Amino acid sequence: MPKTEGAFAARVVAWQEQHGRNHLPWQSTREPYRVWLSEIMLQQTQVVIVLGYFDRFVARLPDVQSLAQASLDDVLGLWSGLGYYSRARNLHRCAQDIVAIHGGAFPETASALETLPGIGRSTAAAIASLCFGERVAILDANVKRVVTRVLGFGADLALVSNVHALWDAASLLLPPGLTAGTDMPRYTQGMMDLGATICTPKKPDCSNCPVRPDCAAAATGDPQRYPVRTRTLRRSSQAIWLLWAQTDDAAVWLSRRPTPGVWAGLHCLPLFDNEEALVMAVPPGLRKHLQPVPAFTHVLTHKDLHLHSWRLLLPARAVKTVWWDDGRWVNRDAWPTLGLPAPIRKLLQQESTR
Ligand code: ADE
Repeated sequence: MPKTEGAFAARVVAWQEQHGRNHLPWQSTREPYRVWLSEIMLQQTQVVIVLGYFDRFVARLPDVQSLAQASLDDVLGLWSGLGYYSRARNLHRCAQDIVAIHGGAFPETASALETLPGIGRSTAAAIASLCFGERVAILDANVKRVVTRVLGFGADLALVSNVHALWDAASLLLPPGLTAGTDMPRYTQGMMDLGATICTPKKPDCSNCPVRPDCAAAATGDPQRYPVRTRTLRRSSQAIWLLWAQTDDAAVWLSRRPTPGVWAGLHCLPLFDNEEALVMAVPPGLRKHLQPVPAFTHVLTHKDLHLHSWRLLLPARAVKTVWWDDGRWVNRDAWPTLGLPAPIRKLLQQESTR
């Protein structure tokens, strides 16, 4: 534990002001709508990628009211390409709850924010501390690394009880109550910035670290051994067959994926568990038009998806006789505005550049 109370937080705050990230588009105001949206986008996506999406999103939906009133299709369309679409569905539900339950104003405490869809403990604390100066700790993956290293916290984070203990420990590092109201936004941002730029998983830049005097892990000479987590993600793999039916005037059959399941709520080519099921779904007279497309793998966090596609090129006049599930023919011009899973978008785009 750092020796003097408040010394650690003061170093983080001073460093953030000098060396942290202070000009990101969601930092220009403390408006909770923008901070919340950016935190959700940044949960699984890097800052450089979020930048383009964030500006486009707020240009189209500038406040929580417009987001609540938008259709889910519009929201998924704006999210298209960012991945992890449950974030977009929760965002939409959360905006509707804020309007319906909270009169359109964001709650100002982490404990109230945490009751909303898609807002977990760390995101709630980020919004409450960045926007309202509440004295609460965040603990996302980057900050877990900073805190375990500073404290030399070697307990296994695969155990929930140890994660709870780490939350308690993170709370003890916060700026003292007297200055918290003004220091909290910078402290929270500083912890995120330290984790992203200095206290990296591999080869942390300890020589430029403002809290090196406080850091137990740096003192051991092997900071990389923190955090300790024994259980690693078990990956699975799944094969999917896609029916890519397209007319000679460039309309593709797309239908909405059911919830729950892979790509829930997004527009997609019809999916099948195996090749036989796909072939059986095509009327016998048209099966001769099926052509295989080279298979490819799409990597998700927990799963490798092996995608096998069959193209079915149809003259426009045959279209009335075929359909699959509850989808529709969608013209090429409309694809960019629809929420499509990234690999499906890639597949269809290949075609349009051929
Ligand atoms: N990652 C998560 N939240 C962030 C923020 N506010 N700034 C930069 N990176 C982040």
